[in-house]
Amino acid sequence: MRVLVLTGAGVSAESGIPTFRGKDGYWRNLDPTKLATPEAFARDPQLVWDWYRERRQGIRNARPNAAHEAIARLAHQTEEFLLVTQNVDDLHARAGVAAEKMVQIHGDIFVTRCTRCEFSYPGRGGSPEPPGTCVVQPTNERLRSIAATSERDLNIPTCPKCQAFMRPSVVWFGEQLSQGELLRVEDFLDGGACDVVIVAGTTATFGYIIDWALRGSRDGAELVEVNPEETPLSRFATRLMREPAAIALPRIVDEVLV
Ligand code: OAD
Repeated sequence: MRVLVLTGAGVSAESGIPTFRGKDGYWRNLDPTKLATPEAFARDPQLVWDWYRERRQGIRNARPNAAHEAIARLAHQTEEFLLVTQNVDDLHARAGVAAEKMVQIHGDIFVTRCTRCEFSYPGRGGSPEPPGTCVVQPTNERLRSIAATSERDLNIPTCPKCQAFMRPSVVWFGEQLSQGELLRVEDFLDGGACDVVIVAGTTATFGYIIDWALRGSRDGAELVEVNPEETPLSRFATRLMREPAAIALPRIVDEVLV
């Protein structure tokens, strides 16, 4: 059994995390798709940090829901499995999807990285489960303590190595996806056609999401879309589940694992 799952913000909606384009997505009357940009950070880094700190807190307070748990069950019970999530939260990881079976294609909100050099450090992920993996651990005591202070700080964190502003390690609009993560997706797709592709909780705004779903489901695999709303992917799906992810995913996973 070879399975590809692609997820977006809708999968975390029932954990209380607002989607980007949904009615709860606005923050202080600001459009999140305009805040998650290099231009917004250049114009007002404090505002952008305030937004990310609030989102980090919201994620820490949230718990994985039945959709995350169903996907984790599928990951455990299929030999060839990849989850590609656009979500920067850590709810898939906290539900139990192993890092080697998951690509966070838009980054990890709990990692903070320098805008200039390579330095980065992990923040504290959601509790009580262990936080997600990090890119680079601060290597010595001094850097570790600076990182911890910056995370608590209400100002804009600066890099302990080069003093430039630090930023959340997420992909903003107009930025390139990580080459390393892209390669992991390509490797999986090159490894053979899937038996099932599930696309859940995403508006599929980005061409690469549709492209990966179609490539994964070449040679007649079932392409399941889980989304209460129609999306640009809907016309390619072989099965449409117009239900919330926490209802539909446990059911479809039960069917796949029969
Ligand atoms: P969006 O906010 O664009 O879309 C959320 C989708 O989830 C919509 O299609 C909803 O219909 C659907 N949805 C809402 N509630 C749901 C539920 N309970 N169960 C299932 N589906 C539900 O979020 P994404 O598609 O993830 O990128 O957005 C993609 C990317 O655009 C994000 O990763 C982010 C954003 O701007 C960057 O920041 C680069």
